[in-house]
Amino acid sequence: MRTQVCIVGGGPSGLLLSQLLHLKGIDTVVLERQSRDYVLGRIRAGVLEHGFAALMREAQCGERMDREGEIHEGFLIAHGGKLDRVDLHKYTGGSSVIVYGQTELTRDLYEARERMGGKVVHGAEGVALHELKSGQPYVTYRQGDESFRIDCDYVVGADGFHGVSRKSIPRDVLREYERVYPFGWLGVLSRTKPVSPELIYAKHERGFALCSLRSQVLSRYYIQVPLTDQLEDWSDDAFWAELTRRLPSEVAASLVTGPSIEKSIAPLRSFVAEPMRYGNLFLAGDAAHIVPPTGARGLNSAASDIYYLYHALTDHYRAGDDAGLEDYSRKALSRVWKAQRFSWWMTSMLHRFPDNLPYEDRLQDTELAYLFSSDNAQAALAENYVGLPF
Ligand code: APR
Ligand code: PHB
Repeated sequence: MRTQVCIVGGGPSGLLLSQLLHLKGIDTVVLERQSRDYVLGRIRAGVLEHGFAALMREAQCGERMDREGEIHEGFLIAHGGKLDRVDLHKYTGGSSVIVYGQTELTRDLYEARERMGGKVVHGAEGVALHELKSGQPYVTYRQGDESFRIDCDYVVGADGFHGVSRKSIPRDVLREYERVYPFGWLGVLSRTKPVSPELIYAKHERGFALCSLRSQVLSRYYIQVPLTDQLEDWSDDAFWAELTRRLPSEVAASLVTGPSIEKSIAPLRSFVAEPMRYGNLFLAGDAAHIVPPTGARGLNSAASDIYYLYHALTDHYRAGDDAGLEDYSRKALSRVWKAQRFSWWMTSMLHRFPDNLPYEDRLQDTELAYLFSSDNAQAALAENYVGLPF
């Protein structure tokens, strides 16, 4: 088989790039290890920057997002018994975010790929990348007991943190930067009315909590838990009781609880791999970087990688202009690191760090006190939350 761009990974990054390139007449094949249902079964992010939403519309996949997604013009931070609002609309000259589940967004992308005859291979086992520096790369994989080879011009590694692409860059070339946090997030999805029309990030002495949503009948909640906790340690009742303890009383009083339809624990890490290019391989999304979810940047930092790659590959095929490809890693990393900073800052400000010095605990409180005493500080938070420019 031959294609112009072979994309490894059928998550949101890979699918969005495939869809955008298709609309420019550029041929792609997406190789996804899991089944479509498995990919759609993952419960992930829920907040889209306006830049990501614009890309979905450009990919002709934004119709359901615009119909079912919720525009949010602010969110709340609960701290020290207070509930303060960050007015995104006010501090960004009218910008906002869209609350729309990654699962739904990925479903929309799959349906668009199918509608347009896109080539998405599921069950692609043993994907391996070859001749990345030769100018004539190819990718091999197995499906069942058959082996396949795809010759291509470029390979895009959109195969997430545990994928094969980043690991295809030689150890003496790849530089990795990582910070692992001493806690994780226990998340619950429940068919209940959300406790608040806007997201609530709660800093509490027992630990961080987050009240989010997918729709007016589907709520998403998280609580910070020690890394040693296992899912079986947390019954639904135990989860609701702990969440209630961490919310302001007036919020807790209106919390509607119900059975969890999904429950999972995820560790928190900050991670960046450099460079994001090796020969004719380009990394995008979680394959190259991971953020703690506190700043809702995970999917959104993938968006700028896709935006840069989409334009760079289009310029290459349409105009023979390789400037975008040559500059991709530098440009993508510049915005990736700003998302890393923001995610680290939100995480550091809102979580309980068991090994903090008392001085550091005071700094955390001061970070919040300064934030809500300064229009400039709130404007800085808001511009990051709605999304820095691509
Ligand atoms: N071969 C083929 N596919 C693979 C391989 C492999 N060796 N390894 C991983 N994959 C697939 C995974 O099954 C997954 O569907 O690559 C896809 C990567 O998707 P994501 O992990 O969702 O990464 P990305 O598309 O960059 O999206 C980033 O997802 O994890 C969240 O918080 C993250 O919201 C962010 C978003
Ligand atoms: C979510 O709804 O899953 C969510 C929202 C905001 C975050 C993290 C997760 O910062």
